[in-house]
Amino acid sequence: MDLRNKRIIVTGGSDGIGRHICLKLAAAGTRLAILGRNVERLRTVEAECKAAGAADAIGIACDIQDPAAITAAVEAVTKAFGGLDILINNAGIWHKTGPLDTIAPDILQATVQTNLTGLMQITQAALPALRANDESIILNVVSKSGVVAQAGQSVYTATKYGVRGFTEVLKADEENTGVRVGGVYQSGTNTEMFAKAGETVPNHIFTEPDDLADVVVFVLSRPKLWIHDIRIEL
Ligand SMILES: NC(=O)c1ccc[n+]([C@@H]2O[C@H](COP(=O)([O-])OP(=O)(O)OC[C@H]3O[C@@H](n4cnc5c(N)ncnc54)[C@H](OP(=O)(O)O)[C@@H]3O)[C@@H](O)[C@H]2O)c1
Repeated sequence: MDLRNKRIIVTGGSDGIGRHICLKLAAAGTRLAILGRNVERLRTVEAECKAAGAADAIGIACDIQDPAAITAAVEAVTKAFGGLDILINNAGIWHKTGPLDTIAPDILQATVQTNLTGLMQITQAALPALRANDESIILNVVSKSGVVAQAGQSVYTATKYGVRGFTEVLKADEENTGVRVGGVYQSGTNTEMFAKAGETVPNHIFTEPDDLADVVVFVLSRPKLWIHDIRIEL
């Protein structure tokens, strides 16, 4: 897809991998809707994207755990941009690793609602606008944890296996529309995701989010071919 002026939603664009994806897509001259909860960080990324060459960049506060906020955000984007070409589902949270009984009920619920339920709900909300085009893309930033079961990650892994299943079925369901669907299955990436959950990990040895963002832009920008899945490991 020729990315210039394409209308794109990036969930979790206010930080980490999503921010880097936004910056790369900005440099490609896209029109970006950057979603997240932290308004200050959204304003910063919005300004960074404009400086990087975005045709348009708007930060929209949207808690993906809130279905009404999702509906409002998608409506605001399609109204502002006159449609939507690409949805990048990236927002996600981590829970501190440990046996299931160590994961607090509120953390369990927030992880499922953010990583899985919210992702499906925003996809549902965006689908009509995406189907209206000859060519559209839904790219889900999943995780290696959507493919490999690792000890201590029960709830996180359940959400990511769920997103992989969702991605595969959506791909089949949209086969006869112009909507192409794909998943990115990457291992540890150097962001604050673990620290936010109180986990200490050797971030510095992980994949750089800037490199991952290059891969995402490469996938989106291929003409006349579609890369269904990407597995990235250290
Ligand atoms: N880092 C890794 O090692 C790694 C590895 C594999 C897969 N992943 C996946 O990659 C994605 C991005 O992770 P990351 O490492 O970039 O994490 P991050 O640096 O913590 O960024 C997470 C982003 O998601 C947003 N977010 C979290 N909860 C949200 C909510 N309820 N509503 C709206 N936005 C929300 C955050 O924005 P606000 O705080 O502003 O809401 C932030 O922009 C996640 O899906 C994660 O599971 C990460």
